[in-house]
Amino acid sequence: MRTRVIEIENLSRSFHVGDSEVQALRNVNLTVEQGEFLAILGPSGSGKSTLMNVIGCMDHVQSGDYRLMGLPIGALSDAQLTKVRNRLIGFIFQKYFLVPRYNVLQNVMMPLLARGCSHREAAMRAKEKLEMLEMGKRLKHRPSELSGGQQQRVAIARALVGDPRLLLADEPTGALDTATGAEVLALFEKLNAMGNTIVMITHDLNAAQHAHRVVRIVDGVLSEA
Ligand SMILES: Nc1ncnc2c1ncn2[C@@H]1O[C@H](COP(=O)(O)OP(=O)(O)OP(=O)(O)O)[C@@H](O)[C@H]1O
Ligand SMILES: [Mg+2]
Repeated sequence: MRTRVIEIENLSRSFHVGDSEVQALRNVNLTVEQGEFLAILGPSGSGKSTLMNVIGCMDHVQSGDYRLMGLPIGALSDAQLTKVRNRLIGFIFQKYFLVPRYNVLQNVMMPLLARGCSHREAAMRAKEKLEMLEMGKRLKHRPSELSGGQQQRVAIARALVGDPRLLLADEPTGALDTATGAEVLALFEKLNAMGNTIVMITHDLNAAQHAHRVVRIVDGVLSEA
């Protein structure tokens, strides 16, 4: 039997702004099995980032149920959620969020050092992932000395270095030109073929079509495409 990575049932999320209430997610149901490459496609303001924040355990479960690798996320303490984020999820963002004063190798070592890995082991594993992503010749470069596509590959190496159960990407090609974006999407397909479970959030239909399943979100309502 395949493991369920994500199980979301009847998830809702609203925000109070002044006297009014914004319903950002409405009764969302979503299951993602291990090994899937899923795209969540939706226009601006549809609830993508709100959903990403819940899936990435950066937001509390306000109403409904969310299980990640079987863990009841709504019942965990902040300290437990931090651990879940660090151990189970690799994050990839539109803006890379590399640390400017660290070099490529140091950036990729960070998640391992944060969980108490030795410097030596962290360096070895980081180098291995960077070599896999063809960034092995740029270990000493600072992020500002790299192209956008190279920075995103470093960010992907950082997401992968802790061997997460889920790769969670928010508009990973949003800051890249078409050709470089296509390279990153081809890389996602390769990583998925190697067994990585990927959830990619995007407003770009072309990007979504690289995934093997697409769900749509409109006004906080999620449906199969
Ligand atoms: N912290 C917040 N406080 C109040 N309203 C919020 C908050 N976060 C999101 N919203 C509202 O929830 C709705 C969904 O926002 P969200 O950021 O999830 O959209 P999105 O699909 O990620 O859009 P974009 O493609 O522009 O990034 C919007 O109407 C937004 O105004
Ligand atoms: Mg967003």
